[in-house]
Amino acid sequence: MTLENDQSAAAPSAGQSAVLSTAPEGGDPVVTTGSEWWRTAVIYQIYPRSFADASGDGIGDLPGITARLDSLGQLGIDAIWLSPFFTSPQRDAGYDVADYCDVDPLFGSLADFDRMRAKAHELGIRVIVDLVPNHSSDQHVWFQEALAAGPGSDERRRYMFRDGLGANGELPPNNWESVFGGPAWTRIEEADGEPGQWYLHLFDSTQPDFDWTNRWVRDQFLDILRFWLDRGVDGFRVDVAHGMIKAEGLPDWTPPAASGSMGGGAGPEGEETASATAPYWAQEGVHDIYREWRSLLNTYEGDRVLCAEAWVDPLSKVALWVRQDEMHQAFNFAYLESPWDAPALRTVIDQSLEAFSSVGAPSTWVLSNHDVVRHATRLAVTAENPQGHGLGPTSAGLPDPAVGLRRARAATTMMLALPGSSYIYQGEELGLPEVIHLPDEARQDPTWFRTDGERYGRDGCRVPIPWESDKPAFGFSQTGDTWLPQPAEWADLARDAQLGVPGSTLELYRTLLALRAEHRLGLGTMQWVEGYSGDVIAFTNGHVLVIANTGTEAVELPAGAEILLASSDVSSGVLGADTTVWMKA
Ligand code: NOJ
Repeated sequence: MTLENDQSAAAPSAGQSAVLSTAPEGGDPVVTTGSEWWRTAVIYQIYPRSFADASGDGIGDLPGITARLDSLGQLGIDAIWLSPFFTSPQRDAGYDVADYCDVDPLFGSLADFDRMRAKAHELGIRVIVDLVPNHSSDQHVWFQEALAAGPGSDERRRYMFRDGLGANGELPPNNWESVFGGPAWTRIEEADGEPGQWYLHLFDSTQPDFDWTNRWVRDQFLDILRFWLDRGVDGFRVDVAHGMIKAEGLPDWTPPAASGSMGGGAGPEGEETASATAPYWAQEGVHDIYREWRSLLNTYEGDRVLCAEAWVDPLSKVALWVRQDEMHQAFNFAYLESPWDAPALRTVIDQSLEAFSSVGAPSTWVLSNHDVVRHATRLAVTAENPQGHGLGPTSAGLPDPAVGLRRARAATTMMLALPGSSYIYQGEELGLPEVIHLPDEARQDPTWFRTDGERYGRDGCRVPIPWESDKPAFGFSQTGDTWLPQPAEWADLARDAQLGVPGSTLELYRTLLALRAEHRLGLGTMQWVEGYSGDVIAFTNGHVLVIANTGTEAVELPAGAEILLASSDVSSGVLGADTTVWMKA
């Protein structure tokens, strides 16, 4: 299959069928189309710094990605999402953008992007890029102009500048804290050398927040969307899609204890978390922005998509991001945050299907990304570990790696049987664990610096991935340089050590993706199968029966049913602890 996007506006694609789905809370029925690629796609997240380094400087790049795309074709994914590769001082690994319409020389050039995009499309792989609209880098010319222009200017109104409190404006405008730790406000020095206004940064001080009530900001981002759509991208993952509008008057607010970092965690229905109450998350005004973006995308051919990174709860609220005239997908972080526990999983799956189908959207499923502890480690951690805090040598509840890997394989085997779209994060197909023992001096996440090492942050899930066990940097970079050190044990997890090896995690993923496509599970309908013990989750999706054992007691498999695949050995006819099996229903 070859894909090609061009610049022309067009009518809906051929082959789409109209589907009526149930009405949300008694409202009008939702008319949707049922065959768009993103409803069922398996989307592979590339973290460009850590995927493949062609230049040899120790940081992955676009030519590196192009050179390795064939292996993703072999894996059987439908699309790639690339974390930011745009011009950036890299204070938050590229989520601090200084030019939204150019490639940072670290990663290559626009021509390298075009080559990468073309090769991906030749292989039938769609390409999603990351858009970072909540904030820019402080080095962006728009912010530099705002600093120079002075209080009250149009340039200052692009961002969230405010006068300070106190007799001389020496106190921040409110008590908000940065997601990365420390205050969310920084005071600037005005042109006359005197202390001046403060600007808001929900993240690092080098990431000033835009003022999205300003039409000028909205117009700039419409142009940015057009720039990448015209370059043939298939869509955008939208960073901090729940944060762009702040509550009127910027009221003081203190987060509940132990909040996760990107928005306070995505808890199940009914649980009070920061994302439900913060005056900077999930404000009603964000939805107008996405309606405008959706209208723009609708003028382009080829089912271009918007996927929200919205750490919002409950799931019924996340569904607001994917109403028919807004985004297409939203990450299902409630699913990601669910423990490896049958009742919890069943609850979150039910809530997900109900919430997303009520607005005619597919559910997404995700277990790992570049902000969370890799699930081959996370699922076996035995202590509380709020999202974004990371793991290091002194963390509580460090897991048994073998248990973690076994659970991760079982969890992925279950996830890829669910109807809807799934995201996988580079390296999880190799069974990579979180790197816990990174030397302090190697750590680079702003969270680590802003909390004086109290939170390890996200470096442990960002270590460059291994390709060939006997090459320098395990094939990541020909020079052997890597921006974060790789553990020696990763030689055994390198792609070439797993390819074609029965039972390897890579072969498990390849088989899962092939069978998922063959049985059209992404498009399917699931039904719970009752009668198992409380630690077991069982369902059918079409003609596939899925049984997952999250407990320790072995479970008898249905006699005579053909086994399609299993996450661990089931040849004895029983499903052991932490194992998932697919059988013919
Ligand atoms: C969410 C991104 O996934 C994360 O990596 C980044 O640090 C923050 N947004 C700020 O852009």
